[in-house]
Amino acid sequence: MPIPVLTIDGPSGAGKGTISRLVARKLGWNYLDSGSIYRSVAIAVQNASIELNDINAIVDVAQAMALEFNCGDELIVRLNGSDITSQLGLESTGGVASVVAAYSEVRAVLLKKQQDFRRLPGLVADGRDMGTVVFPDAEFKVYLTASAETRAERRYKQLIEKEIDANIVEITSEIEARDRRDMERETAPLTMAVDALYIDSSNMKIEQVVEEVLNLIR
Ligand code: C5P
Repeated sequence: MPIPVLTIDGPSGAGKGTISRLVARKLGWNYLDSGSIYRSVAIAVQNASIELNDINAIVDVAQAMALEFNCGDELIVRLNGSDITSQLGLESTGGVASVVAAYSEVRAVLLKKQQDFRRLPGLVADGRDMGTVVFPDAEFKVYLTASAETRAERRYKQLIEKEIDANIVEITSEIEARDRRDMERETAPLTMAVDALYIDSSNMKIEQVVEEVLNLIR
């Protein structure tokens, strides 16, 4: 029997992280936040002052990075031994992540690192290409989205809660730029898997979305 996987893909700010974590906790399954792997590459690239068009250097850094995930109540991530958790959520990190994520060579290096998260009793995997590329054989697939305004507002609130300085106009334009890069890139663009359940969470409460996802598995 293959290890069960639930994939939750969608654009930034759709609520994938919150929903995935809650569903994983209810099911007692492992959780893969694949965006944090791309974000870690972004931080490694910035730490090494690598130019964003230097593909070879970016691939080398991605290949060499030692990542440790501590997926308790709060995700803690260490990159080559240093705690990078506070840098992970920055909008600038997300922006650089979406630039390096457009390189197929980088995605190839990260593929196995992500697939290694598939362990018993099951996995909830959140990202852009979980159901289409990384776990195409997943038994359960969801495409979670929301309007651009709703996503910008949610991101804004998240940042303010974390006491990170934020500006709603800038966030909206960053989200739109990131959506464009993620949807228009050649390798593994953000797209809905044909066998995914489509959920627009714009007017839904978190609990309603969680219920709908759990119903798919039940
Ligand atoms: O989900 P999150 O906002 O943390 O992802 C940051 C960036 O990493 C995304 O904008 C996207 O470009 C990239 N990403 C990706 N494939 C994934 C997860 C994230 O390309 N599976």
